[in-house]
This record gives sequence, C-alpha cells and structure tokens, in this order.
Amino acid sequence: MSHVLSIIVLGVVATVFLVFCKVVYNIYFHPLRHYPGSKLWAATRLTWASAMQSGHYHHKLHELHTKYGPIVRIAPNELSFVSPDAWKDIYGNRNIPKNNVWTSQEEEHHPISIVSTDEATHLRNRRALTGAFTEHAIAEHAYILEDLVGLMVQKFGEAVAHGQGCAVLDTSNWLNFLTFDISGAFAFGESFHSVANGRAHPWVEISCNFGKGVGLMASINFFHPLNKLMKLAMPKNVMEKMKYHKRLVHESLMQRLAMENKTKALDYVGSVMAYNEEKGEVKIPKEEIEANLNILIFTGSETTSTAMAAIIHQLLNSPAVLERAQKEIRSTFDNEDQITVSSTAKLDYLSAVILEGMRMSPPAAVGPPRVVEREGEMISGQYVPRGTLVAVNQYPTFRSASNFTHPDSFIPERFLPKSPFSSDRLDAFEPFLLGRHKCIGQRLAWAVLRLTLSKILFTFDTKAVEERGEFSDQKIYIFWEKKPLMVELRLSGS
Ligand code: HEM
Repeated sequence: MSHVLSIIVLGVVATVFLVFCKVVYNIYFHPLRHYPGSKLWAATRLTWASAMQSGHYHHKLHELHTKYGPIVRIAPNELSFVSPDAWKDIYGNRNIPKNNVWTSQEEEHHPISIVSTDEATHLRNRRALTGAFTEHAIAEHAYILEDLVGLMVQKFGEAVAHGQGCAVLDTSNWLNFLTFDISGAFAFGESFHSVANGRAHPWVEISCNFGKGVGLMASINFFHPLNKLMKLAMPKNVMEKMKYHKRLVHESLMQRLAMENKTKALDYVGSVMAYNEEKGEVKIPKEEIEANLNILIFTGSETTSTAMAAIIHQLLNSPAVLERAQKEIRSTFDNEDQITVSSTAKLDYLSAVILEGMRMSPPAAVGPPRVVEREGEMISGQYVPRGTLVAVNQYPTFRSASNFTHPDSFIPERFLPKSPFSSDRLDAFEPFLLGRHKCIGQRLAWAVLRLTLSKILFTFDTKAVEERGEFSDQKIYIFWEKKPLMVELRLSGS
C-alpha cells in the first residue's frame, strides 16, 4: 500500500515539476519571449482558455492591447494583432492557413465543408457556393427578403394596434426569427415560419449554443489528450440536439431536392447543383451539401441578427444619430412599398450607421487564429516564427485608440466622405475579413441590414424602455450571448 502511495506521490511531484519547467520555458526561453504581454498569459494556455470560457475574452484582449500595444502574446504560442497592416500580412498571405486546433475534433467526425481547414477543400466548396451570393442571385432573391421583412413589420404593426398605439417587443428575438427564416428560405427553399408564428425555430436555440460549443472545443483541443475524452463527456441532451439538428437538415435537404420548380434557383443548393452540372461530375456530394447548409444556417443568421441588434441598441442610446437616420429614410421614401433591397442601397447615412454599429460591436468579435508555417513570416513589421498562432481580433482592433478617434463613441460620420476624424485608420476595419476566407455572405448581409433597418425606422418611432449599458458589455462565446432588447414601438408620427 505504502509502495503504491509513494508511486502516486512520485507521479504527482514529477508532473508538478514538468509543468513548472514548461512554465519557466514558456516565459524565459520560448521563441516568442520577447513579445509584449502578461506573464500569466504567456506561461500557460490555461489563462487564455479561462478567458474564453468566461465570456469576456473580447474585453480581456482589449485590456491587454491597451496596456501592451498593437502586438500582444496571449498564449505560449499565440499573438494577437490590432495594427491595420496585420490584416493583409495574415489573411492575405496564402502561406498562413487556418489552424485546425479549433476544429480538429469536428473535422474528424464530419463531412468537409466551406469552413474546412484544408485549403483545396475550402476552395472547391467556396466555388460551388459562390453562385448563391452574386449580385444577380441576391437580386433574384430580393423578393424573399422583402416579403419576410415586410411580414415582420406587419407583425410589429399588429402588436402596436393591439396595444392601442404602443407595443413593447424584444427586437433581438424577432431579428433572430427573421434571419433564421431567411436562412431557411435560402437553404431549403422555404422559410422556417418563425416570423409568421412569432415563435423561434428550435435552431435558434441550438445556434445560441453552437458558438459556446465551438469555444469550448477550441479550448479543450489545446489540451491533448483531453479532447479525446470530450465526446465521452458530452451531455446526453447536447448529443440528442446535435442528432436532431442533423436529421432536420437531412430531411429538409431531401425536400428541397424534390422541389421541381426550384431546379434552377440560385439558392445554396441550386448553386452547388449548378456547379456539379458545370463540372460534369459530383464535385460536392450530398453529405457535403448538408455540412455546408449546417454552417450557412448558423453563420448567416447569427451574425446578421447580432449586427442589427447591436445597431438598434446603439441607436436607442444615441437620439441624434437615430433622428438623422430616420430623417434620411423618411425623406427618401413616401411609403413602405418603395423600400426594397435595391432602393435602400443608396442610403449613405444608414450605411455609415451600419458600419459604425459593426465597429462598436462586431458580430465576429474574436476569430479563429491562423498558423504561421514555412520558416516564419513578417507580420506588422515583426518576425513571427513557425508554429505561432496569429489573429487580428476585431473587438480590440476596432476599439483601439491607435486606430480610431473616440473609439468608444458611436459616431457614424467617421464613415462618411467628410469624416470629422481624418486620422481614423479605416483600413483597420474589416468586419467581413479579407483574403480567400472573407465572408461569402457579405452582399446578402448588407441587403438584409439595410432593408430591415429602413423598414423599421420608416414605419415606427422607437424608444428604449429600460436603462441599458453598452451592447458590448454582453458576453461572447464566439457568438454574442444576447440579452432581450426591449423596444417601445409606435407608428411613426402618431
Ligand atoms: C453582418 C453579418 C456578417 C458578418 C459580420 C460576417 C463576418 C464573417 C467573417 C469575419 C468571416 C471570416 C471568418 C474567418 O475565417 O475567420 C466570415 C466568413 C464566412 N461567412 Fe460571414 N458574416 C456575416 C454574414 C454572413 C452571411 C449572411 C452568410 C451566409 C448566408 C455568411 C457566411 C459565411 C461563410 C460561409 C464564411 C466562410 C467563408 C470562407 O471561409 O470562405 N456570413 N463571415
């Protein structure tokens, strides 16, 4: 017995000693030791993982950059950048690929898709899906967006009428309904009817947990072999939800493929089918179409609804900006029917409001890092050795005083031609990323953002019903954990 005990004690002592040596190595001998940052973050990946799991990773990164400057070491092998030139140096460099630590578990067990870390697979899937995101495709589908946004505004109007001229609604919830319905229509040829029913589709809830899952997986994957145990430790109800989600995607895809009237539609499935046909072979099989639809439903809905919730939140906190935006919209249109995807594209002030909203609270506030391969790379004028994870994290970049004047103030005018802040580094602002992985849905997102905000601000006078802090005070687990956004609505001019 005492023999067993001494072996255990020896094991514990040896482990503690090894961890101590690793920490000393990371702080004093690691190739990244000269980069600025906190020793606690440099010593072990645990500090990063606990920040990620706290929901305040974005705030902590901002604090670190404010204290240590534009390049900060945020883990033994990771650097975070906020300098404008880092965008091109990292995301414009073909030799700095996505790293698979964040998603390796995922990729071992799932078919590949547009977010695959393998660049050739990514390119094949991206090409197959591009047809659904061209200007032509968005124009062809504009009526779907206009109908769904119109239906939501109609529902708001009914609530106002029911409340004798005033309704208080959780707009954050409704915007989730809307963007998921749009995803349903573009993915499966039919909306999920959440707006019509005034009730969330189960996918809305699953999506809220999706980001948390990715964040958790990313954290655990760094601690090999803990990641191997993750599947065993996955709670039963999460496994069941994942199975349910997959079954639903599969069934909905089968229904979509059976829609004879949609064989040539430029939606997601139509785009892939056209690509396979053009190539004369099945370049993207059914299981990969399914994997892509899984990704597109979440990435397209969550990001866009977050952007709109953040913008409305900011507008409620900024009456002068709200008034100017309303004035632009109401002086451009005489009635709601004139508000379309194409007619809202010319609203310059609203576009500036949208950009400023995404600057203050970027939907993709923190992103998966890339990894330096070859013998190292120059990033933002500094040599970065092979194996280092690197990223431009949007939240600290867009809130950095070295990039923007009054970075914590909501001032859309900075995005207009006669900006009051000529020293602002607009080249630091890439909410959709740049390079080969830049957002494929950017055009669709802009169409939805302009159309929805225009219709709401044209039709209703809006007022906050409670004291709110900043939108960015909320937690982030890859996606934002959004609280209800209660807004008082009255018909405009009533
Ligand atoms: C305001 C709304 C949106 C924002 C801010 C946004 C932002 C981004 C960002 C930053 C990335 C790069 C992620 C990375 O690799 O690090 C990305 C990629 C992507 N986005 Fe969006 N997105 C938005 C809306 C959409 C929509 C509407 C869709 C589709 C329906 C979409 C689909 C995708 C896809 C598929 C990728 C992966 C592209 C690739 O790797 O080639 N996004 N998005």
